[in-house]
Amino acid sequence: MSSPHPFHGGVAVITGAAGGIGRGVARAAAAQGMRLVLADIAAGPLQAIADELTATGAQVLAVPTDVADPGALDRLADAAFERFGAVRLLVNNAGIEMLGASWELSAEQWKRAMDINVLGPVNGVRAFAPRMIADTNPSTIVNVASIGALVQRAGQTPYIMSKHATLSFTECLFLEMKEAAPHIQVAAVLPGPVATRIFADAPGGDNPATVDQQRSDMSTIVAEGLDPDEAGRMILEQAAAGRFWIATHPEGLRTAADRRIAFLTGLGDPSTPGPFKT
Ligand SMILES: NC(=O)c1ccc[n+]([C@@H]2O[C@H](COP(=O)([O-])OP(=O)(O)OC[C@H]3O[C@@H](n4cnc5c(N)ncnc54)[C@H](O)[C@@H]3O)[C@@H](O)[C@H]2O)c1
Repeated sequence: MSSPHPFHGGVAVITGAAGGIGRGVARAAAAQGMRLVLADIAAGPLQAIADELTATGAQVLAVPTDVADPGALDRLADAAFERFGAVRLLVNNAGIEMLGASWELSAEQWKRAMDINVLGPVNGVRAFAPRMIADTNPSTIVNVASIGALVQRAGQTPYIMSKHATLSFTECLFLEMKEAAPHIQVAAVLPGPVATRIFADAPGGDNPATVDQQRSDMSTIVAEGLDPDEAGRMILEQAAAGRFWIATHPEGLRTAADRRIAFLTGLGDPSTPGPFKT
């Protein structure tokens, strides 16, 4: 008889769970017998995935949540701990793209990108970590960055910048937990292209020419990307294996890392690595 999955019976909290990669992680976690706390800003699609997984026999709590709002994450954590008692896995996944040249985006758009992509995971950690630290059973915090955290790209600057920040946050958080709470594993997910709505739904700046070109180019790339349910299974399995670097495209991640090393070693200007394709 095979041994039970390491996460079996534990509680998974997933932000951005109503679509794409987050929904894939939710389905994978339910398939491994986890109980689920699902959060998303889109209340209708959130209820749809909650109903789908409840119908399979999973215990699910769905909480409409804007990860940019620190108070909403505090309320999510209160609801999760009150309903289920302990959290085994926190996946800070919610994120948005943003298209257009840096000077074509409004101050509000810049702030929104940083509030969701950078401070979203921070808000999740602030809300959940104290109670995960106090519970001395093992648990895992997973922050979803991107292979974009290792590259430079024009026309998506808030996104690329935010993912560099998310990776940096996750690296530092790993060290903090190693010192303060070694029973908490910290991991960074750096996905390559996954076939989701992230570019279709991305807000853009005030120049349709640059926005439409980016949206069209990138939508084509992700449409040919990995199935989000497969990405969800890969993320769950690598988190369960205790990995720090979690990949959906291991070769793409290796290539991006090697190019970053070469770029920094060469100290050329940011055009020297050339366009990156996973
Ligand atoms: N799809 C890819 O190719 C790819 C590649 C690298 C990294 N990522 C990262 O994976 C994560 C998930 O992206 P995806 O491709 O599944 O995108 P997606 O747009 O398909 O799904 C994102 C989900 O997050 C939700 N969301 C958006 N803003 C929110 C907010 N403020 N609060 C709560 N929920 C919010 C959306 O409603 C949606 O359900 C993101 O962090 C993204 O940057 C995706």
